[in-house]
Amino acid sequence: MKMISIVLFLSMLLLIMYLVLPSFSGDPGTAISGAPNIYCMAGSDNSIFQKKRKKSEIPLPLPKYRGSLTVEEAIKKRRTIRNFSSAVSLNQQMVSQILWAAQGITEKGGDKRSIASAGALYPLDVYVLVGNKGVDGLAAGLYHYHPSENKIQLCIQGDLRKKVAEAALSQTWIAHAPIIIIITAEYTRTTKKYEERGRRYVHMEVGHAGQNIFLQAEALGLNAGIVGAFQDENLKETLKLPLSYDPLLIMPVGAGN
Ligand SMILES: Cc1cc2nc3c(=O)[nH]c(=O)nc-3n(C[C@H](O)[C@H](O)[C@H](O)COP(=O)(O)O)c2cc1C
Repeated sequence: MKMISIVLFLSMLLLIMYLVLPSFSGDPGTAISGAPNIYCMAGSDNSIFQKKRKKSEIPLPLPKYRGSLTVEEAIKKRRTIRNFSSAVSLNQQMVSQILWAAQGITEKGGDKRSIASAGALYPLDVYVLVGNKGVDGLAAGLYHYHPSENKIQLCIQGDLRKKVAEAALSQTWIAHAPIIIIITAEYTRTTKKYEERGRRYVHMEVGHAGQNIFLQAEALGLNAGIVGAFQDENLKETLKLPLSYDPLLIMPVGAGN
């Protein structure tokens, strides 16, 4: 009986250390490289995780719903562009707009998003990788987008663009973009309802998000590229993604030369 109490006490102590001590659990604000960052997972939404998350969150400017290009003009102009000016930084309004186009909330007080989602199960997560001086007022690093709060959260500090380009079969042009959008999928959010067919739905959804990013970039006067050729495991390791998250799409975005 005494032995059981000791084991129980030690287990509780370990659990408390894991939840409360940042260095023990890999707090995104400090231990940014190393273990996968549990606070960057959309699924980690219980109150203790949320408190931790808040510390590393950055609110974005509200997206604007009126631009200078019609949707027809944006469709007509859209191209995959592989040239970016590394001298021109983006502003946070642009970042907000691109993320919102990919996965942002589009109804007041609700949670419907900019792209359709089978069963409204939203299997995609959107990350923005910011290069050195890539965005005014944002440190270089990997940030996770939280659609419902219109915030980004720092997951990894540092300029990871070259590593991402290497993971993308050394397509070096990727590393010149001030920001790189990465979209991941957690298939089980969709396959738990639609079984194997759900994987097909997830792939359709990432295509919708990619096209929205292209069109929004055009409307902002920016260039965008799209990359599907990359080594999954290398990219997952570089971005310290949660095990259940599969990277599906890389989209570099920036001003032209
Ligand atoms: C799913 C997908 C994956 C792609 N992967 C790459 C890639 O890894 N590298 C690249 O340079 N272009 C890539 N492209 C861009 C295509 O080469 C490009 O869309 C095609 O040449 C047509 O040109 P456009 O997009 O300018 O109309 C990809 C496009 C799609 C849709």
